[in-house]
Amino acid sequence: MPYYRVVGEVPRKRHVQFRRPDGGLYAEELMGEEGFSSDSSLLYHRHLPTAIIKAEAVEPSEAAVLTPNLPLSPRHFRTQDLPDGGDLVTGRALLAGNADVRLSYAATEAPSGLYRNSMGDECVYIAGGRVTFESTYGALEAGEGDYVVVPTGTIHRWVPRGRVTALVVEAAGHIRPPKRYLSKYGQFLEHAPYCERDLRAPSEPLTAEGEEVPVLVRTRGGLTRLVYRNHPFDVVGWDGCLYPYAFNINDFEPIVKGIHAPPPVHQTFEGPNFVICSFCPRPLDFHPEAVPIPYNHHNVDSDELMFYAGGDYSARRGSGIDVGSVSLHPAGFTHGPQPGAVEAVLEAVRQGHTRTSELAVMIDTFRPLDLGPAALSVEDPAYAWTWSR
Ligand SMILES: [Fe+2]
Repeated sequence: MPYYRVVGEVPRKRHVQFRRPDGGLYAEELMGEEGFSSDSSLLYHRHLPTAIIKAEAVEPSEAAVLTPNLPLSPRHFRTQDLPDGGDLVTGRALLAGNADVRLSYAATEAPSGLYRNSMGDECVYIAGGRVTFESTYGALEAGEGDYVVVPTGTIHRWVPRGRVTALVVEAAGHIRPPKRYLSKYGQFLEHAPYCERDLRAPSEPLTAEGEEVPVLVRTRGGLTRLVYRNHPFDVVGWDGCLYPYAFNINDFEPIVKGIHAPPPVHQTFEGPNFVICSFCPRPLDFHPEAVPIPYNHHNVDSDELMFYAGGDYSARRGSGIDVGSVSLHPAGFTHGPQPGAVEAVLEAVRQGHTRTSELAVMIDTFRPLDLGPAALSVEDPAYAWTWSR
């Protein structure tokens, strides 16, 4: 996040004495990406952010084991059929992953414990329900259609307001707006489909009292439970360009062409070896001879995972795909609209149909995705053959 933000109380200069009302010093903490060479924020704690009193290893779960997509085939997974369980951290049902990114689905009403992912940024897409995201930077209210981007190392927790469903993207690195949307110094350019005004971030400090507070920490080596002497939500102020934020998919301004535009026009974020795209309701392609759904395509360098979040997906009619479904179209396989879909949409256009109501989140990975046990448990085995009917 290249945009400077200040929340709560901070001293006039960085790294100077900053005192509490009782005369003691606040503890300054730098959260900085890429060592000291990229975006960062300075946080001012009431207590030492270094004070831990216990460290316990947490056993990895069998549910985190990935299987190669062999024999290679397109896949359809029905997240609608996955059971609710756990919370938005421990209840992640692993759908797919590789060394760059892990993609999971979660459905729960339970609040999570405190959590810090030190492997990379997370982007949690709220598919349904409402949830409060609480962190050392403050709180954010999130609801249907929100992407919540959580920087690496942010201590946070999720408190659902009723049942919440979410698609969770865990990156092995940072998730950022695409470079081509930004000026040399990081401002969104005029052609970008969203801008600073569309992003929401914490606006006031969030403090909590407590001692001996456990925090689940994910690292490349595994999971650890660190117990902090004081509650980590003790920040009275922070400033900088690194913080969690939310962006709602309905604030994405779709780019529409006369003839069909490829998915890069839908790109929303980029991560290490993957992109996240938003397919939003929009006018259909308007050239008089347009074919306003995708052409068959073989992305030789990427696997495409699509989460169908809402609306009506004309190109997939007859495939069994519904809201909540996830499709995986891997490299090595040419995919496209279901048989008859092109003729059906052209007929709909003749009848006066001018818009698509599709709403979907797509993650394209540049290295093959392996399959998670949760995905395989809700796979529609007939999907691969639906183009041959
Ligand atoms: Fe595709």
